[in-house]
Amino acid sequence: MQLRKPRYGDLFEVELETIDPRGRPCGSLEHESGRFKALVEGALPGDRVRASVIRRRRSELELRLVELLRASPERTRPRCAHFGVCGGCRFQHLEYAAQLALKRAWIARHFELARVALDELQDVAPCAQPWRYRNKMDFSFSARRWVAPDEPLGVDASFALGLHPREQHSKVLSIEACPIQFEAADAIVRDARRIALDQGLSAWDDRTHVGLLRHLVLRTSRATGEVLAQLTTSSAAPERIDPYVRALLEAQPAITTLVQCVSERAASVAGGEHEIVWRGSGKLRERLAGLWFEVSASAFFQTNTEQAERLVAIALEELSATREERVLDLYCGAGAFSLPLAQCAGEVLGVELSESAVRDAQRNAELNAITNARFVCGDAAQWLGAGDVGAFDALLVDPPRAGVHPKALAALGAARARRLVYVSCNPQSAARDAAQLATHGWRALRARPVDLFPHTPHVECVFTFERRP
Ligand SMILES: C[S@@+](CC[C@H](N)C(=O)[O-])C[C@H]1O[C@@H](n2cnc3c(N)ncnc32)[C@H](O)[C@@H]1O
Repeated sequence: MQLRKPRYGDLFEVELETIDPRGRPCGSLEHESGRFKALVEGALPGDRVRASVIRRRRSELELRLVELLRASPERTRPRCAHFGVCGGCRFQHLEYAAQLALKRAWIARHFELARVALDELQDVAPCAQPWRYRNKMDFSFSARRWVAPDEPLGVDASFALGLHPREQHSKVLSIEACPIQFEAADAIVRDARRIALDQGLSAWDDRTHVGLLRHLVLRTSRATGEVLAQLTTSSAAPERIDPYVRALLEAQPAITTLVQCVSERAASVAGGEHEIVWRGSGKLRERLAGLWFEVSASAFFQTNTEQAERLVAIALEELSATREERVLDLYCGAGAFSLPLAQCAGEVLGVELSESAVRDAQRNAELNAITNARFVCGDAAQWLGAGDVGAFDALLVDPPRAGVHPKALAALGAARARRLVYVSCNPQSAARDAAQLATHGWRALRARPVDLFPHTPHVECVFTFERRP
């Protein structure tokens, strides 16, 4: 006789043991039909909870937390009123020291799963200010507001400005305040929403593709205190945007520059086909590693400046480039690593896919009178296929979350450089790439993680590889 397996709505008591490398709190559950991995969102290792099944996939159960029976000693009170619903910070209820230990354990686990030996894995460098650390936030306008369970039936949900709720990309949770973003941004978001509602402006609807207001990106500079606001709209609509922008700038004089981007595309990303600068230069200036960087609204720039300083310092230390050496910086962005590197190396070449980032990198080199850094625009794998990788003494790579393309990895494997430094924002793809590099003779010497994103499951890490003798 086949035993009945757990079903939707069944209640269980679960003891949480860990958080898996995908950031999911889990424990195990003995059931008459077998042993299951039990994933309970919102729970923590050390908690004992009562939870109800929402999904079953083979021997994995996803459960909803119903009651906390015993709290983990590492539980703490989340600071944000939106915690639990907002998709941003998932670990605000976990003591900061425990978050750091967890991130280190994930790196170790991913390398273990990829069967790559790491000679040394250092502790995660903590963020001295784990709140208010983000210099950039990207908010969405939406005609589909997320409605809280305690709101009355039929409440108006046709306008929202905020962030997506966890795993609900079609809705937007109106944000009142966000404790990880820079302080001035809280009031700007509230005013941007209030004024839009007062003036009767419509928010973008992801399904019908109508509505005027689409995104609001806020960015600040730690060095100058400037604040940049980028407003993405579905059309230029100057007759409606002019009064809106005037009222917002009047209410929020902290905004030093405001850019409108017009995007008629269906894809929901900030930025657009053309730009209208309403106030200021449309850019701000930030200082990193003792250099000036010009940052435009859509440019990639590390979002935690203080910890980015640390990350750059570690990467430079690990590369230990000398004036006699040539260094290749793949995925160089606007030069956050290449330019500080150019101050100790003989020559730096940055390769980057985004044309605007390459222009920014060249502009930043000029701004700092750096003449020994060059930048080329192209795909890393293609450039490696055609370029002369053998001419470089040291290599730096800082790929997007997906990691380095296999073709690029093969080319890096064949390089004659003595050292390779891999800056990663995703330990899973870094471990997979490290396994590939190992087949080409690169040994993973050291991992030096840095916490750029407190309260989230993200961790940056500098991996140093050396040629096996
Ligand atoms: C994680 S960011 C790092 C940027 C830079 N190192 C920094 O810290 O500011 C990754 C960069 O890789 C670029 N990129 C993405 N795919 C690429 C590819 N196939 N070839 C070259 N660059 C790419 C992105 O545009 C982005 O600037």
